[in-house]
Amino acid sequence: MKIYKAIKKDHDIQRDLCDKISNTSGDTEERRELWKKLKKELEVHAVAEERYFYSPLVDSDDMQEDARHGMAEHHEMDELIEEINDTDMSSPHWLATVKKLIHKVEHHLEDEEKDFFDKAKKLYSEEEAESLAKSYETTMTEYRDSWPASIPGKDE
Ligand SMILES: [Fe+2]
Ligand SMILES: [Fe+2]
Repeated sequence: MKIYKAIKKDHDIQRDLCDKISNTSGDTEERRELWKKLKKELEVHAVAEERYFYSPLVDSDDMQEDARHGMAEHHEMDELIEEINDTDMSSPHWLATVKKLIHKVEHHLEDEEKDFFDKAKKLYSEEEAESLAKSYETTMTEYRDSWPASIPGKDE
C-alpha cells in the first residue's frame, strides 16, 4: 500500500465520525464517545501525516507552499478542538462549533485527496510512497493505543 491509500482510509474514518456526530444532540454518552473518537483520529492523524507525508515535501520547491498550508490547517483544527473542549456539550454553541470544525475538515481532506496527492505522486517514488505508508501506519497504531498521552499537551 502507498501513503495516499493509507491516508485516505483514515480520512474515511474521520468522515464517518463527522457524519455521526452531527446527528447527535445534547450531552449524551453517545456524543461524548463520538467526540472522543473524532478528536483522537484527528490528532493522531495530523501528527503521523505531518511526519510521513508533509515533512519531506517541505524541502521541495513544488510543494513547499502546499505542505505549509496543510500543516497550518491542522493547527486551525487544533484550535477549534480546544474551543469545543471548552464549550458545554449541552449548549447549541457546541454543535455549531463542531460543524465549523467538520466544514474545515471536509475542505482539508478534499485538498489533500484531490490536489496534494497528485502533486506528491510526482515527487515520491513508488518505493518511497510504500515505505512512508508503513511508517505512517505503524505510528497510527502506536499513537491510537496511547492517545492522549501520545500527543503532548492533549487531554481527553
Ligand atoms: Fe491533513
Ligand atoms: Fe489527512
